[in-house]
Amino acid sequence: MKIILGGAMGRLCREIAAEAAAHGDEIVYGMDIAYAGQAMDFPMANSYEQIDCDADVLIDCSRPDGLSELLAFIKAKKLPAVICTTGFTDAELAQIAEVSEELPILRSGNMSLGINVLEHLVAQAARVLGDGYDVEIIERHHRMKVDSPSGTALMLYEAVKKGVNADRTPVHGRHGRNEKRTDTEVGIHAVRGGTVTGEHEVAFYGMGEEIILTHRAENRSLFARGAVRAAAFLASKQPGMYNMSHVVAEMLD
Ligand SMILES: NC(=O)c1ccc[n+]([C@@H]2O[C@H](COP(=O)([O-])OP(=O)(O)OC[C@H]3O[C@@H](n4cnc5c(N)ncnc54)[C@H](O)[C@@H]3O)[C@@H](O)[C@H]2O)c1
Repeated sequence: MKIILGGAMGRLCREIAAEAAAHGDEIVYGMDIAYAGQAMDFPMANSYEQIDCDADVLIDCSRPDGLSELLAFIKAKKLPAVICTTGFTDAELAQIAEVSEELPILRSGNMSLGINVLEHLVAQAARVLGDGYDVEIIERHHRMKVDSPSGTALMLYEAVKKGVNADRTPVHGRHGRNEKRTDTEVGIHAVRGGTVTGEHEVAFYGMGEEIILTHRAENRSLFARGAVRAAAFLASKQPGMYNMSHVVAEMLD
């Protein structure tokens, strides 16, 4: 696969470049607004306008403010794109969706294959266990994380709802509450401290048994592996909007 990297000098792209090399994929060009002649392992530009080469897919790990230039580039080149960048507004997400009518685009706020497998497992467990089990979600992250709960915890909460095929009420902590938990609530709890890369636990508490599904991220390489896997998935797809669930579903088939 020939890959163009957006945000190529950043932490995630550097991991992706290493992962791609390990799989025999080639980074044919990198783009980064901070590029000013630094030594890199592949040709570099600081604007998409300067890039004129063939590729199979673009992987973007930059910032939302580069979106217009990115979309113009992939449209002009008819290039499938994996968008790992997070923090888009609803209007920006709508712009991406519009371009996906012409091109295959995969976007996910969590590129880890493991987390996306966990999402499937949680939906399956919720479907089988149904109403008889109390579900609690606990996520742990490093002390620098500003948002809580994590977007991934909310994604797992949606998987519980999808599995039971009924509405649920998220309860964020139970401080000050003086009543028993209800059957339909899902507790969501955020723990913050130290250097924890990221941990998500979905627990199903039944009468006399507990089923606990846990994912632990040890470093960023899992996102890079997922991004390269997503790029391979996307290269042969029809135009449309995809996410990592589609990649996992294809692997499970
Ligand atoms: N989807 C996932 O699983 C996942 C995982 C980790 C990080 N991320 C997201 O990926 C993005 C990059 O993360 P990172 O840790 O590599 O950040 P980083 O700050 O290390 O790297 C970002 C790079 O993008 C460059 N950049 C900034 N604006 C740009 C623009 N307009 N055009 C081109 N390049 C631009 C910067 O110069 C920098 O080199 C962030 O949005 C982050 O939240 C997603």
